[in-house]
Formats: sequence, C-alpha cells, structure tokens
Amino acid sequence: MTTTANVTALSDRFRETFGAAPDGVWQAPGRVNLIGEHTDYNEGFVLPFAIDRTARVALRVRNDSTVRMLSTFGGHGMVEADLEGLEPGSGDGWSRYPLGVAWALQERGITVPGFDLLLDSDVPLGAGLSSSHAIECAVISALNELTGADFGAEDLVLATQQAENIFVGAPTGIMDQSASLRGAKGHAVFLDCRDQHVELVPFDAEASDLVLLVIDTKVSHSHADGGYASRRASCELGAEILGVKALRDVGVERLEEASGLLDETTLKRVRHVVTENDRVLQTVEVLGAQGPASIGPLLDASHVSMRDDFEISCPELDLAVDTAKANGSIGARMTGGGFGGSAIALTPVGLEQQVRDAVVRSFAEAGFTAPDIFTVTPAAGALRLS
Ligand code: GLA
Repeated sequence: MTTTANVTALSDRFRETFGAAPDGVWQAPGRVNLIGEHTDYNEGFVLPFAIDRTARVALRVRNDSTVRMLSTFGGHGMVEADLEGLEPGSGDGWSRYPLGVAWALQERGITVPGFDLLLDSDVPLGAGLSSSHAIECAVISALNELTGADFGAEDLVLATQQAENIFVGAPTGIMDQSASLRGAKGHAVFLDCRDQHVELVPFDAEASDLVLLVIDTKVSHSHADGGYASRRASCELGAEILGVKALRDVGVERLEEASGLLDETTLKRVRHVVTENDRVLQTVEVLGAQGPASIGPLLDASHVSMRDDFEISCPELDLAVDTAKANGSIGARMTGGGFGGSAIALTPVGLEQQVRDAVVRSFAEAGFTAPDIFTVTPAAGALRLS
C-alpha cells in the first residue's frame, strides 16, 4: 500500500542514490482480470480492474541521454543505458520496461531525455498480475508529463503495447495497460478492445460480504514464450477462415457452422474466444442487475473454457480453482495469460479462512510450491504521487 511515508522514503532513497531530489514520484497498479481472457487481441471485450498493489517510480530527467535505474527489490544492481540509438531487445529483467516505453515515445517523435529512476513495487513479479505493465505505466506517465508529450490514455495504451510487442517481444494485447492507466477505485474497467471505449462498472465485493482472493500459484510464465503466440496465431487463422476481421465479429450462433470449417484445435481456440466474449457481456449485465454475488457461474465457465478449449491452464491453477470451489468460493478462474500465474476466487467473507487453508493444504498434498494468497480490491489507475 502507498502511504505518504513510503513516498517520502522513496524520494529520500532517490536523493541518497542519485545526489538530487526526483522531479516527482508516479505510481501505476497491477491488475486482475475478472473475466475476458485472450479476447483483447481478438478486438473483443475484457473486464479487468486495477488492484491495490502498485509500482512506484521516482524519476528525474537528466541533461544527457543516459538512463540510470535501480530497484528496491534487488537484482541487477544499477542498470545503465543510453537512449541514443536505443534498439528493441535492449536491457534485461525489469529494465526492459522503462527502456521500452522511452523507446515507444521516441517512435512517436518525442525527444526523451535521459533520466535517473528508482523503482519500488509490491506487485508480485511473474504472478500474472501485470507487474511489467505496472512499471511501464508508471514510467510512461512520468515521461509523458516531463517531456510535455501530453498524450491521452488511449495513446499511452498503444505506446505501451508497442513497447511490449516490439521492444520486449511479447505479442500481448491492450488489456493490462488499459486497466493500469484507466482503472478507478471501486470499479472494473469494461473495455471494448476494438475502439478502446471504456465503461467503469461498479464492483464492490465487500458490500455483498464477499472478498476476491488471488491465489498466486508461484508457477512463473512468460508471454514471450511460444504458448501465448501460438494461441494468438490460432485465433488469427480462425478469423481468416471464417472471413472476419477479428473473432470479435463471430457470435455464438456461428459456432455450429464454424465446426464444419475449422480443424479441431482451431475450433476449440475459436470457441473459447467467442464464448468468452459473450461471458464478459453477460457478466457486465449480471453485475449491474444483481451484483457480484451472481457472477460465480460465469467465472466458473470461463475457467473450464480456458482449461479445455484454450488449453492455457496448468495443474496448479486447476487445483487452486477446484479447491476454492469445493470449500465455498462462489466462482473461481485463472486470471491473465495463463500457463501459470494466479487464480481468482470470489469468496464469502465467512469462508475466506476455510478456502485459504484448504488451498494451502491441497498444494502441500500435491507436492506443489506453497501458494501466496491475498485479497485485492479495485483501486485507482496510474497517478502522480508527488
Ligand atoms: C496477458 C496479456 C493481455 C491479455 C491476457 C489474456 O495478460 O498481456 O494482453 O491477452 O494475457 O487475456
């Protein structure tokens, strides 16, 4: 959680490290996705929210093109780079994210000066909660302001996507950075990924005596690996065969026809995306009409679809979901890109401890690494702290 005390501590540490005060401190949150997985790059619908865990950067521009970066969570020590002649693929670990967004701004004709940067983050790394986008969104917010580029959220979303796709090499969509940049306290972000239209949908689990548990399976994943890209390729193939611009344009009523046109694997991938888009729309409707307590079956169906049709779950995620459900969660699903990371479980407050204990026990019995379990609530998107 961000408090005035830890903003001051970050500024003090910046001053000790770099010898002068930062120009400011910016923060951006990680996200969970309530529902709408692998629909973003199919120009469909997603319903993520910004979480109450953030990356924070203290940053000061320099009068040369040097970048010096340090994080509070160790690893890599001080990283130095030069913004002149910056090429995709430069940097490693978390340093690729600040460099990637600086590069994406340069690609938009912005003169980005060198900078000193100190990073702090409590978004767990590799847990499927978009720790990388939290860093990217904090840094791009800072640079957007300090360079006077003054891009709006929609342009920053696309710049961040370009950083991820080209600079980092992960062929991801626009969901994560949209949640991080456009999230709002108490709300989920209902995003149409075709035109970036956003509606903020109230999501107040507490008012319904519910908590949203995140179960971090500790199975780490990378979207720069082949699994994500191959799912994306299957979706593009399906859209091509069905004669549409993107799978967004295929309704559930066309699935029967699709079964005669697509090979078995492509059909499964398409079926996931088409039904998932439909589930997002239903979830928004149910949330508005009946509140969070009624969305459980949609979360469950989403998980089954990712497990069986999109085939991006793993034994740890399935165990987390099944155990949470068996112990009282009213809906549970893996969240994010898959192949590891976290599950979410919407759980009555009175059963939270039972679910936590059961999941920890089941992981121990299965010989899996102990999971990390915590609650999240919808929080504000990226902002300047000082
Ligand atoms: C990752 C990507 C997103 C999205 C999800 C799956 O989080 O960064 O763009 O595709 O996977 O829904």
